[in-house]
Amino acid sequence: MTLAYPDHLDNLLLERTDAIALLTVNRPKVLNALNTATLDELRRLVLALKHDETVRCVILTGAGEKSFIAGADINELAVQTPTGGRDLAMRGQHVLDLIENLGKPVIAAINGYALGGGCELAMACTIRIAADTARIGQPEINLGIIPGYAGTQRLTRLVGRGRALEMLLTGDPIGAHEAHRIGLVNRVVPPGELLKEARALAATLASKAPVAVRYIIDAVNKGLQMPFGEAQVHEATLFGLVASTEDMREGTKAFLEKRKAEFKGR
Ligand code: COA
Repeated sequence: MTLAYPDHLDNLLLERTDAIALLTVNRPKVLNALNTATLDELRRLVLALKHDETVRCVILTGAGEKSFIAGADINELAVQTPTGGRDLAMRGQHVLDLIENLGKPVIAAINGYALGGGCELAMACTIRIAADTARIGQPEINLGIIPGYAGTQRLTRLVGRGRALEMLLTGDPIGAHEAHRIGLVNRVVPPGELLKEARALAATLASKAPVAVRYIIDAVNKGLQMPFGEAQVHEATLFGLVASTEDMREGTKAFLEKRKAEFKGR
């Protein structure tokens, strides 16, 4: 099944090279803050990428050199009503869930500030690479609010309860090396190397068997929400399903024939 790409994007840029899609949040004047229109474009674009079998890996970054995403747009937050605030949070959570469960890897290339919704979006990605100049945090507490795009949940799962509570309650951002030390980002590179590193990793991931990639992401994400025993049954079921693919036969045969496997996603 394919789904049409949006005809026009006001706040995002999309570039496709081979099997890799580079998606850039493009509101540099407000440090790429996520307003409702941007989130909605992101939702539509992410759905199109999900259903495009020619795309095997996505890189997500921010326009300019200063910021990945400086959070939800505070102009919109400032006028929220209780019901509107709940809707806004649930819409954001939905878009981040789509990214987390895209079925193909999404690499966050964190090129600067990743604050609030920016940190939350990066955490929904499969893997995070940060420029060593990046600053990452959940500063909502300083606005008298709390994270609404599942930051309290994903941060806790990534770095543990103690560190998450400290970041959430102080609101202080941390640098890229500290983020790496606590497991919030996977790699740290000089700013000039960021996209090169992200593309190289994307190319590696894009060369893997797509169905196996999808099932690994599914097993990890769904498994985390299940009791261990049920997660094992889920893993075993996916293992059985992947055993029915041509790529499984190709992967094992290529190993025995001492050659590189050519995966087709079937
Ligand atoms: N929403 C809306 N606008 C934002 C924004 C956000 N989350 N973050 C930055 N901007 C805007 C600023 O208002 C400013 O606009 P202006 O030029 O019209 O005044 C512009 O982006 C540049 O930001 P500025 O604050 O001047 O840059 P800085 O280098 O002095 O500081 C930050 C950078 C990231 C530390 C600072 O912008 C900041 O704290 N942003 C808010 C972060 C936040 O609380 N995010 C969580 C929201 S829930």
